[in-house]
Amino acid sequence: MGPQRINEPLSLALITLTSLGSLASASYDCRDIITEGVKFNLEKLDGQFIAHWSRDDLEAEARYNYNFTLDICHVLKRHKGAKKEESCSQGTRVCAIEEMIPLSGTNNATIIPIDIAGTYALGGNGKPLDPKFELLSSSKDGAQIEQGGLRVELHGGQHELKEIKKKINQRAVIDFVCDPNREGTEGDEKDIGDFEPESGDSNGERKLGPRDDGEVGKCEDSEASLRFCGYELEKVDKNDVKTLRLEWRTKYACKDVHSGPTQPARWGFFTWFIIILFLAIASYLIFGSWLNYNRYGARGWDLLPHGDTIRDIPYVLKDVARNVVTTVQGSGSRGGYSAV
Ligand SMILES: *[C@@H]1O[C@H](CO)[C@@H](O)[C@H](O)[C@H]1NC(C)=O
Ligand SMILES: *[C@@H]1O[C@H](CO)[C@@H](O)[C@H](O)[C@H]1NC(C)=O
Repeated sequence: MGPQRINEPLSLALITLTSLGSLASASYDCRDIITEGVKFNLEKLDGQFIAHWSRDDLEAEARYNYNFTLDICHVLKRHKGAKKEESCSQGTRVCAIEEMIPLSGTNNATIIPIDIAGTYALGGNGKPLDPKFELLSSSKDGAQIEQGGLRVELHGGQHELKEIKKKINQRAVIDFVCDPNREGTEGDEKDIGDFEPESGDSNGERKLGPRDDGEVGKCEDSEASLRFCGYELEKVDKNDVKTLRLEWRTKYACKDVHSGPTQPARWGFFTWFIIILFLAIASYLIFGSWLNYNRYGARGWDLLPHGDTIRDIPYVLKDVARNVVTTVQGSGSRGGYSAV
């Protein structure tokens, strides 16, 4: 009958509640991104897209090819037949596949998957996705973008650098830049088949992208809507964070584009909270009762954890009501008692 017997189900319920809660808040709905009062619907960019990058590392005498795959609406699916050790972890939304080809040509290429961002809450050591949204015109690094747009920042990935035996946090910063003439899927890069970035104009003139101001994140010179802009170590609050920067030109980043009819209202956070709370309490009561039944042979009211308290609720309520009534009435006649 002591209070200690309810400890286990209570903590179990709390753990369930907090983990479910963090899962629910760790994601977002790509159809309904609201930042600074502006709503964006990126549903049309759903699916797996790829951006590429190659660099030669002369010191390491190797060429590195990167395939960055992302899905802004869902977690990535693994390719059929892809080896597990050459694929990103379950729950990844932004994945880099790094292929290292020794320039000497004697050794085989190695393929390393890098989790950049995703939801790894149940995977152990992962960090939360922690999505951040920002209007591009107001974003801090001063890029002047006339038509506006949306910056999406996703976290969660970590990758161990073998050379220094240290896990480096990863993040993806995707700038959705308003371009009224682009759907956002031109020249891409859907995650099927090959894609080569188109070579520049024949006269060699460089096309200037909206962000190509020479100061921040020069993006690759490509006509594709989704462009690679950088994958470098950046300092964030004095910590090194390997940051993948992408730019995505699309009309869905324009403020006044609303695609299709308005969606039916989605379940808000609060609804989820209530449901989760209800489930947690229910499982607490059920598990607690089961425990009390099995361990202590409890029956009837004793089955319920806090059975005494629950049984007392009507009396407590009555008491409270009586006190309220007394207070209200008593304000006129000091020190008076009313019979109940
Ligand atoms: C390269 O791969 C082949 C076949 O997959 C293997 O026989 C060979 O030993 C590998 N070479 C090195 C240097 O790893
Ligand atoms: C990268 O993507 C290209 C084309 O999408 C594909 O041919 C290549 O095999 C990929 N590389 C790796 C290492 O997955």
